[in-house]
Amino acid sequence: MNPKTYKKLIAKQLNQDFKSAVEIVEIPISKPDASELLIQNKFAGVNGGFDTLLCRGEVPYVNLMPPFDLGVEAVGEVIAMGENVKDFQIGDAAITTARGGGYREYQLIDANLALKVRQATPELLTLMPTGVSALVALEQLGEMKSNEVVLVTAAAGGTGHIAVQLAKLAGNHVIGTCSSEAKAKLLRELGCDRIINYRTENLNQVLKQEYPNGINLIFESVGKDVFDTCVENLAVRGRLVVVGFISEYANNLEQIIQLRIYHQLFWKAASVRGFLMPHYKEYMVEAGDRLLNLFYTDKVKVAIDPTEFKGIESIPAAVEYLLSGQNCGKVVVRF
Ligand SMILES: NC(=O)c1ccc[n+]([C@@H]2O[C@H](COP(=O)([O-])OP(=O)(O)OC[C@H]3O[C@@H](n4cnc5c(N)ncnc54)[C@H](OP(=O)(O)O)[C@@H]3O)[C@@H](O)[C@H]2O)c1
Repeated sequence: MNPKTYKKLIAKQLNQDFKSAVEIVEIPISKPDASELLIQNKFAGVNGGFDTLLCRGEVPYVNLMPPFDLGVEAVGEVIAMGENVKDFQIGDAAITTARGGGYREYQLIDANLALKVRQATPELLTLMPTGVSALVALEQLGEMKSNEVVLVTAAAGGTGHIAVQLAKLAGNHVIGTCSSEAKAKLLRELGCDRIINYRTENLNQVLKQEYPNGINLIFESVGKDVFDTCVENLAVRGRLVVVGFISEYANNLEQIIQLRIYHQLFWKAASVRGFLMPHYKEYMVEAGDRLLNLFYTDKVKVAIDPTEFKGIESIPAAVEYLLSGQNCGKVVVRF
């Protein structure tokens, strides 16, 4: 029997705590308009940092007021479509990256915003938009070259493990930070040259001792003292890309007193640049095609965290799990 309703997760109020901000609602499944697809989501990617900041009202470029839908990337199956849709058929697998389209069992979306893929597998969620973000950040902001030293923080995470491989494919020496032996093992398998488990080694000491000329390109998503250490260890003409600051997402922002950052950058002609994927939309299609091709030709491998999260009800736990820092690879929810 065809279901008439479906569940989705919405933010019902702004709250510091993701769990207290959200609720599950059940709504009717609508028919697609002429140019729309109705997709049954099979898997959604979890972006715990972004989700938490959204529910706090701390994502200035969107500035949403509750109630609003949550989740971004999802992969699923087309189950109905409007009469003007030409490029899809019922049963096709499709990936979508629309804000609000992820944490729901079904979604209606303009067919132009969905991408047909071979199969609705969770692996694709590491590529779109996460891996695409890594690619665009490294190339457009990091001005990635070959034969340089590249440091990736949170290297075994959803975004980081793709960044590590892209920096290796470009012909660089790649350092990756992580917090456990299981994550170090993944990074070894992905070809990372120097793995720093920051629970057993001191990041600053290792960088100073083993890389006295500094680091040319840093893909930084942790923040706080990790960010400070990274800035301190930039090479002459080094580039640090701020991809995120996950260590501050779950806590109040830290106020610090130190010299202004230009004292660190000026004498090395180094730079720090903020990256936010939505401000680099024009690169998404080409980067996505290239990344999919790297994946289908086995040049980029993807890691899905093995912890199982099933159903809309499991999303708050998945967000909490990601923010606890335990995950190895991309966190996904299965519907
Ligand atoms: N700018 C953009 O457009 C964009 C796009 C996508 C993602 N991002 C950012 O990229 C980063 C990674 O996102 P993701 O979704 O792929 O997550 P993730 O890397 O899969 O998971 C987060 C990882 O961060 C590490 N971490 C280090 N210190 C932490 C702390 N104090 N608390 C929690 N985690 C800590 C943990 O690994 P270890 O402890 O092993 O380091 C953890 O596994 C986030 O900062 C996110 O906001 C930005």
